[in-house]
Amino acid sequence: MDYTLDRAQKWLDTHRRGANELYRPGYHLSIPLGWLNDPNGFCFFKGEYHLFCQYHPYDSVWGPMHWFHWTSSDLVHWRERAVALAPDTAADADGCFSGTAVERDGKLYLMYTGVLKCGPDAELLQRQCIAESADGVAFEKWAVNPVISAADLPEGASPFDFRDPKLIEVPGGWRAVMASRGANGGQLLGYFSEDMKRWRYDGVFAGGLGEMSECPDCFELDGQAVTVVCLMGVDGDPRYPHRQTAAYMLGETDPAWTRFDARTSPATLDWGLDFYAPQTAQTPDGRRVLIGWALSWGHMSPTHYMGHGWQGMMTLPRELSIRDGKLIQRPIRELESLRGTCYELKDVAVEGFLALSELVGRRAEIELELDVRSADWVEIRLMESEGEYFSLMYDVMRQALRGDRSRCGYPLGEGGAAEEKPWTEAPCACEEGRLKLRIFVDTSIVEVFAQNGEVAMCSLAFPKGKGDGVSIRCGGKAQIVSGKRWMMG
Ligand code: FRU
Repeated sequence: MDYTLDRAQKWLDTHRRGANELYRPGYHLSIPLGWLNDPNGFCFFKGEYHLFCQYHPYDSVWGPMHWFHWTSSDLVHWRERAVALAPDTAADADGCFSGTAVERDGKLYLMYTGVLKCGPDAELLQRQCIAESADGVAFEKWAVNPVISAADLPEGASPFDFRDPKLIEVPGGWRAVMASRGANGGQLLGYFSEDMKRWRYDGVFAGGLGEMSECPDCFELDGQAVTVVCLMGVDGDPRYPHRQTAAYMLGETDPAWTRFDARTSPATLDWGLDFYAPQTAQTPDGRRVLIGWALSWGHMSPTHYMGHGWQGMMTLPRELSIRDGKLIQRPIRELESLRGTCYELKDVAVEGFLALSELVGRRAEIELELDVRSADWVEIRLMESEGEYFSLMYDVMRQALRGDRSRCGYPLGEGGAAEEKPWTEAPCACEEGRLKLRIFVDTSIVEVFAQNGEVAMCSLAFPKGKGDGVSIRCGGKAQIVSGKRWMMG
């Protein structure tokens, strides 16, 4: 089959009305039709934010990768743009995998992985390619692609696991940091170029990263070097909620980002059931903002197996900072512009059970501050109706926050099967007995930020009923110090 931009765009324009909107989130960015995974090319260029993503136009499951594209002036309201990349050249005939964007001399450059099926097993050869655009909308792929190929790999590194270039401007040229599988497992490789055309291998940027690494991002934050990377094959390691988990390391680097000296081991970025492959961009006022893919490999959204025609959404944009050696994530303040009427609670005692009818909402932001000193556990039920609910449970003794969707409608196992583990649990310290939660409920997604952004948890959930109730239960006594709920516009 020939894949072209024109064909992808026509398919979308013709079929988009057929998508079932029942589970469409209201203020999370989602794909109108087809499949979405990783955010790609997230950047600010010529007065606008640009966000691309891994995209399969023709089915709501993963397939030959294209790049979808949105722009925004505030990271909250997004405008859909023309499909940006299709697998339509000899260098990327079987897919345009993940990559990043930079501005150079007033143009936007995308560096991505072109894949080609090879040999009897149709293994995917992965090589790095570049596309450029003067207006940030129409992209032209370079004729010299691929610019980095198997011949540029160090010994022991697999040409079939070599992808997701992170492009960084450095003194005298450009650095590309790439995910790779070496003889000892996951690593990141560094390449340098003066012109983005001829690249020189520069050594291992970071090593010891699971069985294989994916989707690196590297940036400076509060005077430290940060590397975000997805780890594959970390099953059974209690530090990570999934066999494939997005993690971050704090450390040091040189001005040319040649090598990353990690001072911390990779720590989980988001403890929810659905979060992967995040990318960051810097805002003109200097904030570092992260957006992740709100699904985990191995989970299937009911919008696919029920034939709704689409599968995939992004997390909310999160502003990053570092506090006490930890990466802190808070929803960007621009989201407050979506807040409608506010309902408020103050100093309400909870013994056993309390329905929070003031906080009801299926598209809402809920802020809660709880005093849990006299409680053994506290459970907040979200998306509640007719016996269904998403459970957010805090275990006071164990200082652990658990998100559980096992009673919340349709399961996310393959083809609608039950999931092996429909819950995750995050370590969540509670100082002076105060549990602080910011909860974003949006039709089929629950994003939780606990303790002022120390713990983030993103999970999808598909209640069969109305799914807008909120209630709270506890063992012992808890006090709602304050509670607020905004309907989100
Ligand atoms: C991560 C990933 C990337 C790859 C892309 C393919 O989710 O596996 O490593 O580039 O998805 O769609």
